[in-house]
Amino acid sequence: MRPADKLPPVRWPSREEARASRLFSPIRIGSFTAATRTWVPAMVPWRSDEEGFVTRDVLDWYGRFAAGRPGVLVVEATGIRDVPSGPLLRIGDDRFVPGLRDLVALVKERSGGETRVLIQIIDFLSIRRRPAKKAYIGRYLRLTDAHRERLAQHVGEARASAASEAELRALMLTLPHADLLALLAEREVEDLERGYRERITDVHLPHVRDLPQTLPGLFADAAERARTAGFDGVELHYAHAYTMASFLSKLNTRTDGCGGTRENRIRVPLAVLRAVRERVGADFTVGCRLLGDEVIDGGSRIDDASWFSAELACAGLDFVSVSKGGKFEDAKQPKVGEAIYPYTGPSGHECMPTIKLVPSGPFGRNLPLSRAIREAVRAAGCDTPIVGAGAINSFDLAEAALTHGDCDLVAAARQSLADPDWWLKMRAGRGADVRRCIYTNYCEALDQRHLQVTCQLWDRDFEREDEGGGIARSHDGKRRLLPPP
Ligand SMILES: Cc1cc2nc3c(=O)[nH]c(=O)nc-3n(C[C@H](O)[C@H](O)[C@H](O)COP(=O)(O)O)c2cc1C
Ligand code: SF4
Repeated sequence: MRPADKLPPVRWPSREEARASRLFSPIRIGSFTAATRTWVPAMVPWRSDEEGFVTRDVLDWYGRFAAGRPGVLVVEATGIRDVPSGPLLRIGDDRFVPGLRDLVALVKERSGGETRVLIQIIDFLSIRRRPAKKAYIGRYLRLTDAHRERLAQHVGEARASAASEAELRALMLTLPHADLLALLAEREVEDLERGYRERITDVHLPHVRDLPQTLPGLFADAAERARTAGFDGVELHYAHAYTMASFLSKLNTRTDGCGGTRENRIRVPLAVLRAVRERVGADFTVGCRLLGDEVIDGGSRIDDASWFSAELACAGLDFVSVSKGGKFEDAKQPKVGEAIYPYTGPSGHECMPTIKLVPSGPFGRNLPLSRAIREAVRAAGCDTPIVGAGAINSFDLAEAALTHGDCDLVAAARQSLADPDWWLKMRAGRGADVRRCIYTNYCEALDQRHLQVTCQLWDRDFEREDEGGGIARSHDGKRRLLPPP
């Protein structure tokens, strides 16, 4: 049995039905009109080089999505700072503009000029791999009197107070793990068990304290570069585990007027939007991606997200793309030497729901969130388009979401990854040829390990087909780098 045969059957439209559908009808999004309401949301494929430049692999990746002619294609989360961040795209300096310009040109060419291309711009704070216990206690832990005092309970007052710093560290390492953890402060336990991670509430760090002052300029600079590179617009990344989502989060307890109440939590996101708008002008599309629900204890819920969306829409945002979860707070403990990954806990599972999550399947699972947000934005008097996502994998589901008012555009990430041509196949009345995503998250597991993202469905028969050696392969040579035609 093919994996796709385990999925519930779907019905595909005829060419005429597709042509008359809402899904394949145009929609205005800020400064441009998208030819259809189909959307490929941001997906990081780990294909840039270590300096964050557009590579041949990046071009091939986006060119392949463009060939399926989605109405909108969003380029992956791209860093706004000029700091090394591994093989993730960057837009933190003008030297990145020529590569990005080539990317835009390729998308336009491969889609016959049909696909509108946005870039998702992101800020994230520092995060380190989980250290080995010996390294953390032996070197990184900043020793305090509190450690010495608590250690005295185990080794005696005299020995603890006479110990040099090196002896103290060595003594700590002899303790049973639970006793060692009891010596540490809450954040130190987390640094040891999960790896050091900065938060927006770490206001003792000057660069974190000053984020409300620095972020608007950084985002505005990045948006200006995106405009110069020829993008049709930018998507401000206000979702998942990153800086801007942390400002919106109910867990944001900053006391500088940028945390606590909803009005305070939206202050920096609004300032960023205003700075970007001022820089790029009214004739450039500026939207955002945000969370309909953080899905973590004490986190923001749909009522917060609806209020934020209405405020942002009234302040001139051109679209809201709705996602869910994907937080660090409930992520699985990483192995030693690995970094925590925000898509491994319950909130992560809601972000990219798998077939295993619920027996009935994850299909359209997050649409109630985009529906509630859309209603709140409309109630505030704005007709800002709302983008819905979450295991949308068929024409009927997409069309129903549009006609029932769940969203104004339909985003499909993994289904578009499994088969970038699926939009075109539906339009041509050839839905039966769609390679259907099986939602087991092989792709996401590669993302987690920072490996070039591919799809397990592309690899079938790949070795046999590649007798001539002409098929591009991943770095490890084991996987096909692009979807088969
Ligand atoms: C490999 C991979 C990388 C992703 N990278 C991003 C990203 O850079 N930014 C983002 O907002 N979402 C990212 N996502 C989440 C998707 O955009 C999407 O919201 C999620 O997969 C749910 O949609 P789907 O069910 O259609 O796949 C990523 C998803 C995958 C599978
Ligand atoms: S690898 Fe990802 S895109 Fe491919 S079938 Fe699995 S979940 Fe879908």
